[in-house]
Amino acid sequence: MTRLLVPLVSCLVAGATAAWAVRNHPVFPLFSNGGSAPVDVGPLPRGLEAIDAESCGKCHAEIAAEWRGSLHAKAWVDPVFQDAYAVEPLAECRNCHAPENGGEEPTGRAAAEGVSCATCHVRGGQVLAGSGHARGVHGGSAGSPTAGPRQAPHAVFATRALDSSQMCAGCHQFNFLGFVTKSSGGHHVETDEVQQDTWGEWSRSRSATARETCQDCHMPWKQSANGGRQYRSHAFPGGFDEALVREAVTAEVTAREVAEGVEVAVTFHPGRIGHAFPTGDLFRRAELKAWLEGSEEPPVVFPLARTFRDRIEDCVPDPQGGPCKPLPEGQVLRVRRQSVDTRVPPPGSGPPAVRRATIRLPAAADAPRGISRIRWTFDYLLMPTPGAASAGGKPVHSVHIAGGELVATPAAPRSPERSSP
Ligand code: HEC
Ligand code: HEC
Ligand code: HEC
Ligand code: HEC
Ligand code: HEC
Repeated sequence: MTRLLVPLVSCLVAGATAAWAVRNHPVFPLFSNGGSAPVDVGPLPRGLEAIDAESCGKCHAEIAAEWRGSLHAKAWVDPVFQDAYAVEPLAECRNCHAPENGGEEPTGRAAAEGVSCATCHVRGGQVLAGSGHARGVHGGSAGSPTAGPRQAPHAVFATRALDSSQMCAGCHQFNFLGFVTKSSGGHHVETDEVQQDTWGEWSRSRSATARETCQDCHMPWKQSANGGRQYRSHAFPGGFDEALVREAVTAEVTAREVAEGVEVAVTFHPGRIGHAFPTGDLFRRAELKAWLEGSEEPPVVFPLARTFRDRIEDCVPDPQGGPCKPLPEGQVLRVRRQSVDTRVPPPGSGPPAVRRATIRLPAAADAPRGISRIRWTFDYLLMPTPGAASAGGKPVHSVHIAGGELVATPAAPRSPERSSP
């Protein structure tokens, strides 16, 4: 048992309670602290010769193959990331997208492996495992039967840290950096505005109350092909997994004729999801589009996304919720502030909202009323830049969630005009 690891459990508990008081800013530094420093995996664990994914994969082959196909493995080489990093090459980006960078521009293994086995499993000369290991059970959740423990040829430290959603929060929860401008140069500071709120959204959802963790949905138990043993999948499916996206949310669409045209009403119901849909960074959004068949009018769009505005402020907000610190004369802070959030909240975070919009009938419409046909599509989108949607840009990836066609409820017949006396 190394000394390093013992205080982590209390840190985990503190993080869980503080989150309600402090605005979405849990601190769980073991697995990256919002990108403020590289991850230090420490010395080589006893019994191992190397900690690169290929070496681990010699004995944990299925896991290594799954991880290789995940965005964690590609966190640095991901072209969408690389394009964004070229515009804003900050140390914070490196510390989350290539956490084992040792304080330098990532090369070699740090770049090729991104968020690697050691990033999550190696600390202080130990291989960290979930707490189930301590009880001689692999895993530890109910419904995870196993063939009993085998002896690991390397040091293993079992910790509940790996079972918790907090471990993911080190990278999946962080605030915007603001830029303090001076006449000569400037510097970045952390602000109190949340950039990715995945853990915060989860903490306010029914999943948190039900103790359903990130791992339960993103690392489901799987049967090993060779030996009947169950383990947690390392494929980390997310927005690129069509089945997962389709079970995350459903849309209920209705339409009725009104005086100016056809009013479309949409209710988005969250499905099996533990955070907002979509969550993560500003590159992700979804859109439900509806249009009147045969009409030239552009479709009405219901975006599920966050919108931000850049603001100039004259003091630096405290990420922990304390008072704002005034800036010296002549300096200002440029910071992004959220103005609108139209995403679908997860189960347990309030009733689903109904959103409405009216498709106007074309001016020269002689189409008889009573048979207005509405078509709609609902798609999940990954955009090449956060601003691409408003600039008419094309997504780099999309998943078709649902679509359909319906006839609008006809307007109530007009009451007969009264004859004047
Ligand atoms: C993003 C973090 C992360 C990465 C990257 C990662 N793991 Fe894991 N790993 C976990 C978590 C979390 C668990 C499950 C802990 C629990 O609940 O028991 C786990 C479980 C395991 C287990 C125990 C098997 C089981 O589920 O019973 C092994 C072995 C393992 N990982 C090996 C690896 C190897 C090898 C790699 C690299 C190819 C890797 N991991 C990459 C987070 C990670
Ligand atoms: C020489 C083979 C070998 C190598 C190399 C190896 N492991 Fe293991 N590891 C095992 C065996 C065998 C076990 C015990 C049985 C099991 O859980 O698969 C084990 C257990 C584990 C566990 C605990 C699983 C549990 O039961 O809860 C984790 C986590 C783990 N290894 C991760 C890693 C990581 C990460 C690496 C690379 C840094 C690595 N291992 C390298 C063979 C190896
Ligand atoms: C050390 C930082 C780090 C940790 C710890 C971490 N992640 Fe990630 N994760 C990332 C980064 C960075 C990406 C995005 C990579 C990219 O696309 O450039 C990512 C991507 C993902 C994705 C892929 C989303 C998609 O649409 O395909 C999922 C799912 C995910 N992480 C889940 C988890 C879970 C669950 C945990 C905890 C068990 C976890 N992560 C821990 C950094 C981390
Ligand atoms: C109840 C199941 C569930 C839980 C719990 C859950 N997720 Fe997800 N997650 C999903 C589903 C379903 C999707 C796919 C829909 C989507 O793209 O949002 C998803 C998508 C994602 C994505 C891709 C971004 C996106 O929205 O497209 C990331 C990253 C992610 N989850 C991380 C996490 C992390 C980190 C946690 C824990 C704090 C977590 N998830 C907890 C079900 C869950
Ligand atoms: C605190 C950790 C952290 C920091 C700091 C960070 N990221 Fe990320 N980034 C993530 C996680 C986690 C994801 C996965 C969620 C998602 O893709 O929506 C991600 C996703 C992305 C994506 C979307 C990739 C894709 O294909 O889905 C881009 C682009 C990106 N980050 C660029 C950057 C840049 C550029 C910086 C520095 C200015 C940066 N990130 C800083 C954690 C971080």
